[in-house]
Amino acid sequence: MNSRNSISFSWLTGIGLASLLVFMEPATAADDQFKHAERLYDTYCTQCHGVNRNGNGLNSAFMSVQPRDHSDAKGMGDIPNSEIIDVIKKGGLAANKSVLMPAWGGVFSDEEVSQLAAYLRHVCKCGSDQ
Ligand code: HEC
Repeated sequence: MNSRNSISFSWLTGIGLASLLVFMEPATAADDQFKHAERLYDTYCTQCHGVNRNGNGLNSAFMSVQPRDHSDAKGMGDIPNSEIIDVIKKGGLAANKSVLMPAWGGVFSDEEVSQLAAYLRHVCKCGSDQ
């Protein structure tokens, strides 16, 4: 690469970085509050519940019971917090739901389960204190 090219290359890189910064939204308090739960969800839940949180994860095509659509305000709003927490900890069977929803009690602390439950309320934009 001659020197002229490398100068324009670094200019382009600079412009690329600058526009990235422009398009990055500033973190809000709400983002911070759910950051950890969101990371847990991305790691452990999306393969079934989907990156869009709508139940369309990679596994869902092969499952006899479809994962819950966590973006569905009506469906999620009907589930009390206590059931959400129970199901995350002990699996679907704890609420007479499918065994295909695994138990995560051995993976997450109680604090993390509560954070996930609160995060799910944030995702569905539905009920919070049932
Ligand atoms: C292996 C696939 C799979 C994974 C991974 C998974 N789920 Fe599920 N989940 C399901 C299925 C299937 C259902 C629907 C069960 C039913 O309706 O009988 C479900 C249902 C649920 C429900 C609704 C329970 C109810 O009472 O209707 C919640 C809440 C939930 N999952 C949370 C999570 C969270 C949080 C994670 C990640 C920590 C997770 N799931 C990971 C398969 C999965």
